[in-house]
Amino acid sequence: MAIFRSSPKHLLLLHFFVFIISVTTQPLPSPRANFSSSANSLSSCPSYVAYIAQGPEFIDLGSISDLFGVCRLSISQASNLASEDDPLYPGQLLLIPITCGCSGSSFFANITYQIKKGDSYFLVSTKAFENLTNWQVEEEMNPGINPTLLKIGTQVTIPLYCKCPAKADSEAGFNFLVTYVWQPGDALSSVAKKFNATPGDIVKENKGVNLTASVGHPVLIPVSQLPALSQPLNAPPKRKESKHEWVIVALSSVAAAILVTGLAVSLVYVRRLRTKKLMISRDVEFDENAA
Ligand SMILES: *[C@@H]1O[C@H](CO)[C@@H](O)[C@H](O)[C@H]1NC(C)=O
Ligand SMILES: *[C@@H]1O[C@H](CO)[C@@H](O)[C@H](O)[C@H]1NC(C)=O
Ligand SMILES: *[C@@H]1O[C@H](CO)[C@@H](O)[C@H](O)[C@H]1NC(C)=O
Ligand SMILES: *[C@@H]1O[C@H](CO)[C@@H](O)[C@H](O)[C@H]1NC(C)=O
Repeated sequence: MAIFRSSPKHLLLLHFFVFIISVTTQPLPSPRANFSSSANSLSSCPSYVAYIAQGPEFIDLGSISDLFGVCRLSISQASNLASEDDPLYPGQLLLIPITCGCSGSSFFANITYQIKKGDSYFLVSTKAFENLTNWQVEEEMNPGINPTLLKIGTQVTIPLYCKCPAKADSEAGFNFLVTYVWQPGDALSSVAKKFNATPGDIVKENKGVNLTASVGHPVLIPVSQLPALSQPLNAPPKRKESKHEWVIVALSSVAAAILVTGLAVSLVYVRRLRTKKLMISRDVEFDENAA
């Protein structure tokens, strides 16, 4: 009963503790969209997660392919890239094919990831995987591993949020629910356009979710078929271009140098020829005078 008769000082302390607890447990980046399965969902399905190419590490198809354990060709084809060898640019949207399956009451796509120096579940989920997962589900998915003592080289399971169509989705013609992390500056209309989906369908699939307040959180984009992402025809091969430019600059300076030397040489030659001619004509004059 002491607590009920406690002084305002104690109450303040209690409030302070409650505040501290709520603050420390606050950044629970729980997904707001509904990734749970139902009795009439497919238990496993091919699906896609949207990934944005980003430097310094994940700006080429090779490293993105290694991260997700999906071959370059599959990513290139799913993302509507003209070629596997085209360079990517920062911010370029890609679609990564994954296999989505239910684990308990939620859907996840399991990715195997090898811990690197300086990694934490938080960093791996927010940086490398761009919030397609979060540290809590990572901890849950790796019960045998101490999350505060991640050893370099340890293989962990990274569960990416995904969802298989439920009966209602299939009936509405949606064969894929693409996982997309809402980006700063996104508008419903622009996101719908990117994925060739309709704004109404996106709102419906993410029932109860305030999309504009979902920056950094995964949402679901329902589509009937794999959307053909609009990719730049000529992705900016910046490095190659500048290399070409250098070659052109070098070649033209060499050409200019040759031209200048040639000009100088011929000038000297012409001058010499003139003085020779002058001397000859003088000699002739002299001879004539002498005669
Ligand atoms: C979440 O989605 C599942 C499957 O589509 C559905 O059965 C369930 O009712 C949804 N839950 C909520 C809270 O909307
Ligand atoms: C993902 O991995 C967890 C833990 O290893 C496992 O329980 C679950 O069934 C896996 N889910 C899928 C879809 O493979
Ligand atoms: C959605 O979130 C935005 C930004 O946080 C807010 O301005 C807006 O009022 C919210 N809309 C609804 C319907 O709650
Ligand atoms: C991911 O979420 C964290 C917080 O949970 C946020 O600070 C960060 O900006 C998000 N990153 C992306 C790429 O959305």
